[in-house]
Amino acid sequence: MPPKPFVAPIVDSKSVFLPNIFKGKVLFCTGGGSGICKAMTESVMRHGANAVIVGRKLDRLTESAKELSEATGQTCIPAQADVRQPQQIKDAVAKTIATFGRIDFVICGAAGNFLASIDGMSENAFKTVMEIDTLGTFNTVKATLHHVRATQGAYIHVSATLHYKGTPYQVHVSAAKAGVDALSAVLAVEEGPRGVRSNVIAPGPIGETEGISRLKNHAEESKRGYPLGRIGNLKDVANATVFLFSDAASYVSGQVLAVEGGCEHMRSFQ
Ligand code: HXC
Repeated sequence: MPPKPFVAPIVDSKSVFLPNIFKGKVLFCTGGGSGICKAMTESVMRHGANAVIVGRKLDRLTESAKELSEATGQTCIPAQADVRQPQQIKDAVAKTIATFGRIDFVICGAAGNFLASIDGMSENAFKTVMEIDTLGTFNTVKATLHHVRATQGAYIHVSATLHYKGTPYQVHVSAAKAGVDALSAVLAVEEGPRGVRSNVIAPGPIGETEGISRLKNHAEESKRGYPLGRIGNLKDVANATVFLFSDAASYVSGQVLAVEGGCEHMRSFQ
């Protein structure tokens, strides 16, 4: 009988990290109203931090902030802002400082995506995603840096793996995320001497996200299989977040941590 195929366990970060490692810390997360960034925020809050989630849709942010507060016993507040607008991000930072007095951790996660070929994409469509993902990250870093220096805190930028190769219909996101990776490396080098760390998390295929439902053909993927026996889970990204913000990662900066289960290394014989 063939051995039972291995399936990687889905782990709760509290079974690995102490529950209070982020007590007294404050997280500022763009794109935190839904999906991967919401799960990342929840994981940081579960270890004792309070949080501000930033996005364009106030209704969704307000609902998510309530859910996150109830689920974790910490305080999460919404701040409405479009990351493309520097003043709006500055206002969200001011709200954070007025409420909590500090910023220790920043997740730059606000992103836009859709499928379109180069030929079929307008200049404005390309520019829109560059502005949300790359310029939005720059704006967020600029607005928060002074406060993150004060706490000798850390950044996590949410990128992707699709720009490592030519992914069709993703020229805008590929260019934008390559820019995010580069920005993080520069930030790590410039701000390291002030005690600030900057890293990237590059999620691979993660189930139950808007990205995967828009971009991936599930049937195709499951035929090919996954090296660790399953598609990624939001908890996988959340656990990497807790690690990178924790003191266990105090010598980890300027890195890209791809949370993708080895999928990038798989080659099909056909
Ligand atoms: C072609 C499109 C399009 C589409 C919009 N555009 N959708 N072009 N195909 N499906 C064009 C518009 O026609 C317009 O160009 C330009 O893009 C700007 O569109 P707007 O709707 O005016 O912009 P805006 O309201 O700011 O919306 C931004 C958005 C939107 C990116 C277009 O979809 C969005 O904000 N989505 C956020 C949610 C999201 O996508 N999350 C998933 C991220 S997943 P013209 O020329 O007509 O003016 C992710 C992970 C990737 O990033 C990795 C996964 C594996």
